[in-house]
Amino acid sequence: MQQVYLSRIAGHVGKSVTIKGWLQNRRAGGKVQFLLVRDGTGEIQVVVSAADVGQDVVEMVDHLGQESSIVVTGEVKEDKRAPGGYEMTAASIEVVQNAEGYPITPKEHKSPFLLDHRHLWLRSSRQRAILKIRAEVIRALRDFFDSRDFTLLDAPILSGAACEGTTTLFETDYFGNKAYLTQSGQLYQEAGIGAFGKVYCFGPTFRAEKSKTRRHLMEFWMLEPEVAYADLDDIMVLAEDMVASVVARVLETRQKELAVLERDTAMLEKVTTPFPRITYSEAVEHLRTGGLDIEWGKDFGGDEETILAKRFDKPVMVTRYPSALKAFYMSRDPEDEKLALCVDMLAPEGYGEIVGGSQRETSLEELEQRIAEHGLPKDAFQWYLDLRRYGSVPHSGYGIGLERTVSWICGIRHLREAIPFPRLMNRLYP
Ligand code: 4AD
Ligand code: MG
Repeated sequence: MQQVYLSRIAGHVGKSVTIKGWLQNRRAGGKVQFLLVRDGTGEIQVVVSAADVGQDVVEMVDHLGQESSIVVTGEVKEDKRAPGGYEMTAASIEVVQNAEGYPITPKEHKSPFLLDHRHLWLRSSRQRAILKIRAEVIRALRDFFDSRDFTLLDAPILSGAACEGTTTLFETDYFGNKAYLTQSGQLYQEAGIGAFGKVYCFGPTFRAEKSKTRRHLMEFWMLEPEVAYADLDDIMVLAEDMVASVVARVLETRQKELAVLERDTAMLEKVTTPFPRITYSEAVEHLRTGGLDIEWGKDFGGDEETILAKRFDKPVMVTRYPSALKAFYMSRDPEDEKLALCVDMLAPEGYGEIVGGSQRETSLEELEQRIAEHGLPKDAFQWYLDLRRYGSVPHSGYGIGLERTVSWICGIRHLREAIPFPRLMNRLYP
């Protein structure tokens, strides 16, 4: 009999079908066993009764461990009370493998234990909900840029040039030379605009962040658009449209997963454009009024970001940070050379920076000087400087951190659950 996926079960009511999956849970009731079977696309309750399959099959089922892989054939019924809304009456059951002693039981486990078993933890309903939303966020992001005439331009993972400073580089040997795992695809996107006008890349990026915060991963995914002839204001509009459209998509298609996560969706419904905008200097004033002793010129940490974001119920865009805090490639504000033409978007509810971007410096001389000031190797940047020699245009772009965005949308505390296999300072397993 042909396999039916549970996501399509509604079309098979009254028919006999075969499903292939895993035993998630089991409950016995006299001569009947109730199995909760998951096939990855959905879940269904399977009724195994002696009257249909014989007493020995019911007894065999009674010895099946959680996560045993099974193939069930039987008739599908609609049942409003059953999880998923459908029920199957088993006519036959084939055990592919009986799993004994599955380590993750429905009781509470501590997070080091769960992280050690991440390869199995992925199967739990919460983790599946988060990763389904992650997949939807990726699809929504790509749809957003693809439908606006952006061209996808993949950036290399191995690079000779540091984009975001030299302190967080993962270095590797490259046939006797040094290579780094990329911190950002931005510089390559800046090359791409000369060919395609509007480009984006989306891929893993790496930061050897020597900090164990819940907002930092060593390996995270970033989507980075870059737009020729765009200024800071243009990309701020692009960024708010993007975030609003991603949140709207998740609300539209992932209500079930948001419910599993018990996410307060009223908070997400508020994420409509325009988003509030404040400058770094206004932010410092606000923090001081709130009693925080912060000097102008100091970078914001998690605490500052949380306090600032609390003022708003939408993401807030903080612009014009002191240029001394920011990367070498950012334009200076012509009205105040101490400031960078940059933006950080802070998510509400204390999730911190989800987007970072800027208008890019166009002056060749200025860039040469900054590369020297930042202690970056001049030779590795010659190709980048060529972009200012041949058809240089004003341009701007940003990066959105996928795991920060997913954590916020899901309402989960720690970034490590927003990626299938997190790379943390003390974790490379599994
Ligand atoms: O602000 P960042 O460092 O900006 C850049 O890399 C630019 N080159 C992007 C560009 O303009 N094309 O990083 C961008 C975003 C942050 O806002 C944050 O969401 C995320 O990437 N991010 C991290 N996410 C998880 N773990 C880390 N260690 C992260 N570092 C940055
Ligand atoms: Mg940043």
